[in-house]
Amino acid sequence: MSQEIRMLPEQASTVAGQVDAIYLWLIGVSVFFSLLIAGLLLYFAIRYRRRAEGEVGGRFDSSTLLEITWSVIPLVIVLATFFWGAKIYFTMFRPPADAIEYFATGKQWMWKIQHPSGQREINEMHVPVGVPIKVTMTSEDVIHSFFIPAFRVKSDVLPGRYTTLWFKATKTGTFHLFCTEYCGSEHSLMIGKVVVMEPEAYQQWLAGGPAATSMAEAGEQLFGQLACSTCHQDGPTGRGPALAGVFGSQVRLASGRTVVADENYIRESILNPQAKVVFGYEPIMPTYQGQIGEEGLLQLLSYVKSLAPKPAETAAAPDAGGDGSAR
Ligand code: CUA
Repeated sequence: MSQEIRMLPEQASTVAGQVDAIYLWLIGVSVFFSLLIAGLLLYFAIRYRRRAEGEVGGRFDSSTLLEITWSVIPLVIVLATFFWGAKIYFTMFRPPADAIEYFATGKQWMWKIQHPSGQREINEMHVPVGVPIKVTMTSEDVIHSFFIPAFRVKSDVLPGRYTTLWFKATKTGTFHLFCTEYCGSEHSLMIGKVVVMEPEAYQQWLAGGPAATSMAEAGEQLFGQLACSTCHQDGPTGRGPALAGVFGSQVRLASGRTVVADENYIRESILNPQAKVVFGYEPIMPTYQGQIGEEGLLQLLSYVKSLAPKPAETAAAPDAGGDGSAR
């Protein structure tokens, strides 16, 4: 195989072209002005050099037009770059609502990937082409970083919290997956591959492995095993808040604050339940720190996410929850 020398990796996702465009623009602007300034410096140094002993430079009064020109032109350039960059940033950090959710756990020194349907892989990630994929990531030990150069996506992977990224592959093939945060002696070996397949081939691949329990189903089982269901029941009888429709909603806390129930909120509520007690409830939930591994937490998270809101009380008004007796 001939290894052609290329300045940028192959473009294989929907954002790759956008990222490269702004990257090349930034390089272009930098090179243009560097050359312009260096060139003028050289030119002026020669053109206006001292030609005789005792020669004194002429007087130059400031020029308003010149000042405005060299202020406005850079301003327009940096503002345009800012808005362009912000647009790409928002695209990259807002996964489409229909994205399929994968999970990745970093660990010295491997990537553990889980499919929403429950299949597990180590250092390999099979995905369908043309489908948005959201990856929720965490680490079992130190900070890692999840980087797929061909997709131009990268995110730190942190112990104790979730980070996410998303991509939509535009071509089938095998692409590099790197850890890009120095994480110990075998950091450089913490590499994997992303295999992008036609959707039918992906379905076949999924069916080829051992039958797996989906993430949400596994979470439901765990929810039962840990007896979470004894408190988190639907209806006003529960000692803990009902969880249907909680994910993504605004939750009013006993402290009076309101938070969005995102991935990190759910995680914290399991591991450190006293941190953010829901308004109207007693702080009676025990911690599950040390009892559930990262995988179990991701399963519980999937389960909580899968609980759709009850049709009657869609935007579940926190004020109505509980009996309000707590404080
Ligand atoms: Cu993990 Cu470097």
